[in-house]
Amino acid sequence: MDVLSVTSEIYPLVKTGGLADVAGALPAALADHDVAMRTLVPGYPQVKAAIKRGRTVATFDDLFGGRAELIAARVAGLDLIVLDAGHLFDRPGGIYVDQTGADWPDNWQRFGALSWVAAELARGLVEGYRPAIIHAHDWTAAMAAAYVAFGGDTRTKVILTIHNIAFQGQFGADIFPHLRLPAQAFDMSGVEYYGGVGFLKGGMRCAHAITTVSPTYAREIRTPEYGMGLEGLLNERGHDLYGILNGIDATAWNPQTDPELPAHYGAANTKARATNRAALAERFGITAEAGPLFGLVSRLTWQKGIDIVAENVDWLVSLGGSLAVLGSGDVQLEAAMSDAASRHPGRVGFVKGYDEALSHLMQGGTDVILVPSRFEPCGLTQLYGLRYGAIPLVSRVGGLADTVIDANEAAVEAGVATGVQFSPVDGPALGEAISRTVALYQRPDIWARMQRKGMKTDVSWTNSAGKYAALYQKILGEAQ
Ligand code: ADP
Ligand code: GLC
Repeated sequence: MDVLSVTSEIYPLVKTGGLADVAGALPAALADHDVAMRTLVPGYPQVKAAIKRGRTVATFDDLFGGRAELIAARVAGLDLIVLDAGHLFDRPGGIYVDQTGADWPDNWQRFGALSWVAAELARGLVEGYRPAIIHAHDWTAAMAAAYVAFGGDTRTKVILTIHNIAFQGQFGADIFPHLRLPAQAFDMSGVEYYGGVGFLKGGMRCAHAITTVSPTYAREIRTPEYGMGLEGLLNERGHDLYGILNGIDATAWNPQTDPELPAHYGAANTKARATNRAALAERFGITAEAGPLFGLVSRLTWQKGIDIVAENVDWLVSLGGSLAVLGSGDVQLEAAMSDAASRHPGRVGFVKGYDEALSHLMQGGTDVILVPSRFEPCGLTQLYGLRYGAIPLVSRVGGLADTVIDANEAAVEAGVATGVQFSPVDGPALGEAISRTVALYQRPDIWARMQRKGMKTDVSWTNSAGKYAALYQKILGEAQ
């Protein structure tokens, strides 16, 4: 079965978050299920630079304001179709934002074009290639569903995966005439959203199935608290909404082979983690040897609950813990982390920025990985933590609730606990969870058992790839 995945980021070429990891891992995971997945991605400079041998398979004289080509290439084991459109993607700065952090003003053109091209591919733009399914990720690809629906293409099926409903791609009505959609698409049953154009909303309206990245988040987004205004539409489409948990790339994330770790280890013997911890401590200027070392690898934003970590730093240190923070994002949260580090020399360290290699060392060297998110569609860092024996301390929301088993007394007794959960998502509840974690750390037998249990948990794509494959089959079956 041919499936065209459409994404605005893909590991290892271009990544700002978990979407890249998922888009990069899905094709290999699905290959075992007879799914041939190609991925349509924007031709950002870093993507084009990675192409060694490419083949031009289509050209456009005017794609949303400029010339463009499609280049088919195999890069890093991925079958890519790269949308090479200099006027849209060839620029310095971020992939969504400019150097000042503001959204690129032409994002609607950039990701409208990506989505439009996906629909054209499904209509047979390139001879010999006609995917039966488009698997679109997030608002940046969501409009593919609208282009298929309003283009009169009744053959192609579209699955839309929502990785984060907070990002919706909303624009003014003035862009509508430039979208290459018929007038009737500007309607509640199409892309119209509160008088403007909603990319995610339009995709959700038109896709044959909607998935999100954990069962709990699939339920949560049907409520006003988490649905960010789209809960009504999600309830209407409830029958077509599925929660499929993300997996991790178990080859790229394997503590027995990870090239970023000074010392390798497996579930049977985690002693080597001490060597990694020492390397990590040095990197973060942490000199404390006793007490658990907490790690945070994250975008520093409100979603991720970084403010409640800042609130708890003094408490964590007073309990004998230390803290290593890797991340960047909101200026105020960055300042709060710098401040915490300067108040607690030798106990709290902050590396500002994005560092893929260091993120691996964090998982292989910290005792606890903190994920105190206000909402979390799935979350990958706690899955990496499980695999690496870094005990996840997480809020009980979304995919965090689905993947970590809280060390309550019954779970500890039964030997099934893998981490610590807290709720509600606020400073006092996190503080209490930090105390609980420190107490568990002081009982090495229980701690080791939790580590082993986590490391043996299957967090790979094995289960979930099967679920996507079954969903593809189902929507194709419904078509007949
Ligand atoms: P989200 O996609 O919402 O940011 P996820 O947990 O799904 O959250 O994915 C985050 C991904 O980005 C993980 O692979 C994580 O290791 C990585 N990551 C986040 N911040 C950093 C950072 N500062 N440096 C390196 N990797 C990071
Ligand atoms: C989003 C979500 C995160 C999820 C990732 C991959 O970035 O915030 O929870 O793990 O997408 O699906």
